[in-house]
Amino acid sequence: MSEAFQLWPDASSTAGPEPFDAWMARILARTEHALERYLPAADAPPATLHEAMRYATLGGGKRLRALLCHAAGELVGASPVALDGAASAIEMIHAYSLVHDDLPAMDNDLLRRGQPTVHVRYGEAMAILVGDGLQAQAFAVIGELPVPATQRVVLLQELARASSSHGLVGGQAIDLASVGVALPREELECMHRMKTGALLRASVFMGAACGAGVLEPSLLAALDDYQRAVGLAFQVVDDVLDVTTDAATLGKTPGKDAQDNKPTYVSLLGLEAARVLAEDLGARARAALVPLGESAAYLDALADMVVHRVR
Ligand code: IPE
Ligand code: IPE
Ligand code: MG
Ligand code: MG
Ligand code: MG
Repeated sequence: MSEAFQLWPDASSTAGPEPFDAWMARILARTEHALERYLPAADAPPATLHEAMRYATLGGGKRLRALLCHAAGELVGASPVALDGAASAIEMIHAYSLVHDDLPAMDNDLLRRGQPTVHVRYGEAMAILVGDGLQAQAFAVIGELPVPATQRVVLLQELARASSSHGLVGGQAIDLASVGVALPREELECMHRMKTGALLRASVFMGAACGAGVLEPSLLAALDDYQRAVGLAFQVVDDVLDVTTDAATLGKTPGKDAQDNKPTYVSLLGLEAARVLAEDLGARARAALVPLGESAAYLDALADMVVHRVR
């Protein structure tokens, strides 16, 4: 797992800036390869657990977190191999959070990424273990990254904080406690920032932390404004898509939030105002990048994608 590998040429070896679509296709391909390599082999014992961990993680995800990590890392000249590791770890945490989010005790969902959820396919106990295994594997990947130990510690801290009860897990706890509750706007925003925004923040800052140098305060400030806006926009759009998109496009069962009486930006503001808010947050994210100029073109395109995605 610790072995460094490189299957694709670096962007720096191509002449001129790479167009966003080509860059994205390249990063998506190398992310799948990295995940394939960093996940335990499907036939390694206990084989059913490892097969289920791979089922939960490989294929189907949009890999937005990996893309953000790479785009932020490229801004600071980070090594693509380090970014592959950081991006894989973040996608493993994300995949684990989805497996647990779908459990009967949580959102009780049957469909994820267009396939039966892990507990439907492998049983509930195995789905719990899949999440546990993916979470530990994510930290193991970072622990073995070929970067200086001080950088590994920073990456571990970022990922741990994002996954913790002050981030993702805390947001999920608030989500569960809020069924049937009309949360005030500040509390809804806080829940969204924790359950979804924290890992998106980590994606941006872990990418930047893969670079060798100390980050300029102006770059840190721009990335912070960017991640705050993108992080919230992402979950506002998730709330909108739950109402507006069909299962075939979404790859999950639509209408679940209303059915489960979850407070969302749509239930709070109405559909149209939630859409306007997402556009506004997207514009705010892109404005934050202006001081960084052309070097932030991929982060800019990703903000646009977050707001205008259809799944
Ligand atoms: C869905 O995340 C769950 C939320 C955090 C809202 P994504 O929409 O990024 O899921 P995948 O990875 O593309 O399946
Ligand atoms: C999930 O939020 C957030 C995490 C998994 C941390 P949702 O419950 O809205 O995500 P979906 O809609 O099931 O993907
Ligand atoms: Mg949920
Ligand atoms: Mg859910
Ligand atoms: Mg949702």
